[in-house]
Amino acid sequence: MLIQPADIQLIRDLVLKRAGIVLDQGKEYLIEARLAALVKKEKLASVEHLLAQLRTRLVSVERAVVDAMTTNETSFFRDLYPFDAMKQFVVPELIEKRKANRTLSIWCAASSTGQEPYTLAMVLREHFPQLANWKVTFIASDLSREVLARARAGRYTQMEVNRGLPAPLLIKYFKKDGLEWEIAPELRQMIDFREINLLEPWPGLPMLDIVFIRNVLIYFSTETKKEILRKIRTYLRSDGFLFLGGAETTLNIDDNFDRVQLNKSGCYRLSGAMAAAA
Ligand SMILES: C[S@@+](CC[C@H](N)C(=O)[O-])C[C@H]1O[C@@H](n2cnc3c(N)ncnc32)[C@H](O)[C@@H]1O
Repeated sequence: MLIQPADIQLIRDLVLKRAGIVLDQGKEYLIEARLAALVKKEKLASVEHLLAQLRTRLVSVERAVVDAMTTNETSFFRDLYPFDAMKQFVVPELIEKRKANRTLSIWCAASSTGQEPYTLAMVLREHFPQLANWKVTFIASDLSREVLARARAGRYTQMEVNRGLPAPLLIKYFKKDGLEWEIAPELRQMIDFREINLLEPWPGLPMLDIVFIRNVLIYFSTETKKEILRKIRTYLRSDGFLFLGGAETTLNIDDNFDRVQLNKSGCYRLSGAMAAAA
């Protein structure tokens, strides 16, 4: 199969416009492989058939193609150190600062199939039982309805739980059901899963104490990164914490953030001037 350059460009333009994802030159193989996988999954006649539908600008087909072009790679306790930082520094500091009104708000953006927000939920449950009496708002979101459905279901294969999840936590918070492991309702109920496209407005988000937005900015242009970081600044409390992926930074993109080292994890906080003015 060889997709015509005009069709490759059609997909590039669509994915850039709808998701902000830049599919560079050289990613043709990826586009072809993912279209082929979509054809198989949707039991369509052929890639040509799918492309013909796409050219009619059918919204449902456009959505499916954009979904298919997202990279959903994730795992429990991915990179480990941010979760150590949460346990050792971030949550203790916020518990102290918010003890008067006992509220905490967390947003895990681009949360894919849910391993990242469920990891955060386990950290909170394991180490901060006092939060049971707090109003904790915990939103996890993604653009893709498919990964959101999987996250909401909270069901994982053996291979998925083998990646990063310590055995004691598997035993404590998951129940084996057939070939899959299902997350405990008490953890699932902590999280409000929502469809949020980072490129569009973010209605209904509260002011936030902690933002995890990891391993998604890498797919965007500098302009899009700038705009998303600017929007995060309007939602992040002046003493809040921002976590990015290991290959991501605010450096040379938004100088209103300072990088802070918390043991082995870097995170970002609104810079002094911003924090004081907020
Ligand atoms: C590589 S995964 C990262 C998952 C998790 N944050 C982690 O670090 O393990 C990237 C996720 O970003 C989502 N995504 C891509 N573009 C997006 C957009 N414009 N708005 C919201 N989510 C987006 C994808 O659907 C995908 O689930």
